[in-house]
Amino acid sequence: MIKKLASHLGEYKGAAIITPILSALEAIMDVLLPLLMSYIIDQGIEKGDMNAVLKYGLLTFLVALFALFLGLMAGRMAAKASAGYAGNLRDAMFERIQRYSFTNIDKFSTAGLVTRMTTDVTNIQNAFQMLTRMCVRAPVHLVFALVMAVIINPHLTLIFVVAILFLVLVLSCIMFPTIKIFDRVFKSYDSLNASVQENVAAIRVVKSFVREQHEDDKYTKACQNLYNQFVKAESRLSFNNPSMLVAVYGCNLALSWFGAHFVLKGTITTGQLNALFGYVMNILMSLMMLSMVFVMLSMSVASCHRVIEVMDETSDLAPAKKPVKEVKDGSVEFDHVSFMYKHGTGSPVLSDITFDIKPGETLGIIGGTGSAKSSLVQLIPRLYDVSGGTVRVGGVDVRDYDMDVLRHDVSMVLQKNVLFSGTILDNLRWGNENATEAECIEACKLACADEFIERFPDKYNTWIEQGGSNVSGGQKQRLTIARALLRKPKVLILDDSTSAVDTATDAKIRQAFREKLPGTTKIIIAQRISSVQNADRILVLDNGRINGLGTHEELLATNKIYQEVYTSQTQGGGDFDKQGGED
Ligand SMILES: Nc1ncnc2c1ncn2[C@@H]1O[C@H](COP(=O)(O)OP(=O)(O)OP(=O)(O)O)[C@@H](O)[C@H]1O
Ligand SMILES: [Mg+2]
Repeated sequence: MIKKLASHLGEYKGAAIITPILSALEAIMDVLLPLLMSYIIDQGIEKGDMNAVLKYGLLTFLVALFALFLGLMAGRMAAKASAGYAGNLRDAMFERIQRYSFTNIDKFSTAGLVTRMTTDVTNIQNAFQMLTRMCVRAPVHLVFALVMAVIINPHLTLIFVVAILFLVLVLSCIMFPTIKIFDRVFKSYDSLNASVQENVAAIRVVKSFVREQHEDDKYTKACQNLYNQFVKAESRLSFNNPSMLVAVYGCNLALSWFGAHFVLKGTITTGQLNALFGYVMNILMSLMMLSMVFVMLSMSVASCHRVIEVMDETSDLAPAKKPVKEVKDGSVEFDHVSFMYKHGTGSPVLSDITFDIKPGETLGIIGGTGSAKSSLVQLIPRLYDVSGGTVRVGGVDVRDYDMDVLRHDVSMVLQKNVLFSGTILDNLRWGNENATEAECIEACKLACADEFIERFPDKYNTWIEQGGSNVSGGQKQRLTIARALLRKPKVLILDDSTSAVDTATDAKIRQAFREKLPGTTKIIIAQRISSVQNADRILVLDNGRINGLGTHEELLATNKIYQEVYTSQTQGGGDFDKQGGED
């Protein structure tokens, strides 16, 4: 784990190595100060030697100044190393997530990924900073101060040992349960983030169902829970200071009592006793710091695991050994294909699917909700890999293509589609970043989007809000179709992409496709028969299996499901589709 995490240090490796060295030197300087003070007292004040006072005073000042400088430098370096390291980690995670396949995305929730990239990385950053600064500084302080104390007087050092044992005992009693609480705190953070993310993303739904109070209460409860856990953890931690003070004052009392005796006996000097008082603080403070580092590190272990999990997730879409760099034509062939979602129910979603489409042909796909229409077409641009059988595009297995080439030539308008914040032109150019404005307008005309864009005051420079929240559902669908058209694909897949478009416009779009894109293979998933009845052939899916395949007339004559759907949509009172002027 440490090796994996350390590999992302990159250009901050130098800073990460220098920081502990500077911290160690700073600690050594700190430890020298009480010793120098003892010289000032013993050599200067006690003997009335002003020169010695000045000499050791100046030396103390210089050592303190140097310690300060080292401390400043170590702080700067630690900040640089930890912030840079966190940046590298986030970059690496983001890059990894960009390479995820749909299966990988199914595994992690969006909120989970956001928490991992923010809170978890921040935890690691803080722990890393502590590690490079305190983890070296505190032990060096502790060891050197103890050595100095033993040199001054081994008997009096016994007092320190008792105090250390007392503090270690008390601190471990406080720390271990606190770590467990903090562990729970971070898990609560996860669900809090998830709830915030879900709520904010779906704020319109919350409002339309008048669920504000309910959501508010849910959030307050989650916050209260977090508050309680934090108070519990922090109140345990608040025992740290009193126990530290008990140890310090206890030491001071014992030192004063025994030390005074030793001074009277002449075993140690006043200056040395004074130095021992300084070392008490040094040693106990170091212990205190170490205990805090311990808490911090154990808190970050869970975060480390969660970050590594994101980095270790590899795309399950194995790249082709000798990738084919060109899609010959828009023919599509399904050969005994079966498919199952890895993170799904465990039962096959598609079974034994065999059919083919010739280049330029239009295939309509129709079937009830959950009949696996989307699952079927997602196999063509290889968003998922088949579980059995083969999907071929242009006569070549999709797994043998260079992924970018395949996805460039197979353009798909997803059922759950989004627009990004930016102008309409920016959004369209997702389809083809080099498209000229004329090409964008042409694509919008084909998708019947130009008519509403022209009505916007800023026309093609109209700003689209995040997720396309300031355009209507039908407008958004037409923009996403135009975006897919700009690719000039060999295969165009529309997954229920005109469901929110009125039937007249829907018919116009299909007519434009027929006339302007004769060479492109078109696969159109729809719920309305009217959207597919003019297709060359229509595939009827039922529960992941092909129930029928043929022209509108053939299916009307032979296919029971098709007949039922047709009847319900034309005669069964649900004749709304016909009102848009469709023939
Ligand atoms: N990402 C996924 N992970 C696991 N199971 C999934 C996933 N997507 C879909 N499924 C399951 O696969 C089955 C087919 O879903 P699919 O989305 O292909 O249906 P559909 O025919 O497109 O439905 P609709 O008409 O509602 O769009 C459903 O039972 C669904 O629960
Ligand atoms: Mg679907």
